Amino acid sequence: MDFTLSDEHRMMKQVFREFADNEIAPRADELDKSGEFPRENLQKLGREGHMGIPIPEEWGGAGADFMSYIFCLEEVSRACASTGVILAVHTSLGIYSILYHGSQEQKERYVTRLAAGEMLGAFALSEPEAGSDAGALRTRARRDGDHYVLDGNKVWITSAGEADVYVVFATMDPEKKTRGITAFLVDKDTPGLTIGPKEKKMGLIASSTCELIFDECRVPAENLLGEEGGGFKIAMSLLDGGRIGIAAQGLGIAQAAVDASLEYAKTRQQFNQPIANFQAIQFKLADLATELEAARLLVYRAAFHKDRDLPCTREASMAKYFATDLAMKAGIEAVQIYGGYGYSREYPVERFMRDAKVTQIYEGTNQIQRIVVAREILK
Ligand code: CAA
Repeated sequence: MDFTLSDEHRMMKQVFREFADNEIAPRADELDKSGEFPRENLQKLGREGHMGIPIPEEWGGAGADFMSYIFCLEEVSRACASTGVILAVHTSLGIYSILYHGSQEQKERYVTRLAAGEMLGAFALSEPEAGSDAGALRTRARRDGDHYVLDGNKVWITSAGEADVYVVFATMDPEKKTRGITAFLVDKDTPGLTIGPKEKKMGLIASSTCELIFDECRVPAENLLGEEGGGFKIAMSLLDGGRIGIAAQGLGIAQAAVDASLEYAKTRQQFNQPIANFQAIQFKLADLATELEAARLLVYRAAFHKDRDLPCTREASMAKYFATDLAMKAGIEAVQIYGGYGYSREYPVERFMRDAKVTQIYEGTNQIQRIVVAREILK
């Protein structure tokens, strides 16, 4: 057993780390305050070939492995978690859906441009009454000649209003429950699709989150993704990979919070000495450092499985809930270590805390992840 990264992986991680420090981190605070969509960051990622890291070169990607993509998500999220979620949804839910389940024509139309960062992808599964119970979605799809007609609402859609193409899940027959759910590729300017106002959120302020409203939205029949009734399995299998991405995002946020806490503990003086001298602070730092290492092992192990096409449902859910619960804990602890300054918007740690919260909620709440793990180990 070898716990060290290969030379190639170490080099990749270093490249992403420097990119995140030099190109993404400097504007993260400003974007968090203004709420401006980080288009410039996405362009930089695209120029470096980071918008399609695990996508084969023949489809316009970098042709690297999933592990490298996970390193990139971790480092980008350490600098700016808003940019991290946009990249995660674009790659592991957006591009992968078409790469894995699209026709040759769909791949030619979308994958190359998505992987190059010329288009942005998004994923529309959740609805007002179908969050954790994704199988209960109500958006309807019916065939009408050479089109499908979509009616319904999707909520909490990451990159809504900014994305060029949405992977949308709708039911053709609610009686069939999850087996009636079908996936479609919906272009942003499709008549009958409107975008709701931007949600006012606690964190990830620079990412765009809106409702999608489908009103007699006519989608060309060739935009059916996979087979009629095959959509739920597509969603679930994509989420296996997506959750590893969110786990990496959690890892990045946790690392940022731990780095800031270590730095501050060594410089902040109280009672004529750095607060790092006090055991109360040392124990917090020791616990965080230990749990961060454990989270990293879980996340990288899940990515290792994915790269080898080994089953990864259990590994992804374990990594997702462990790493994102840690991100939340690390954010809260960083604020506590900073004391009054931690509560101020002058310092970045309250951003880490706010950004961490949603990682415990989206791509399946951490309660749903525990259900997935329990089902897997009880099989
Ligand atoms: N891979 C492939 N197929 C799978 C699967 C997987 N991981 N998990 C389940 N399936 C299949 C099952 O085998 C089953 O197939 P059959 O019909 O042939 O029997 C079918 O899917 C239905 O499975 P379940 O009976 O297990 O379905 P369920 O209704 O009990 O739901 C659940 C299971 C795990 C609770 C699921 O609903 C779930 O994951 N909920 C959370 C929703 C979620 O993650 N939403 C994320 C939104 S996207 C997002 O957040 C992006 C963003 O913006 C950041």
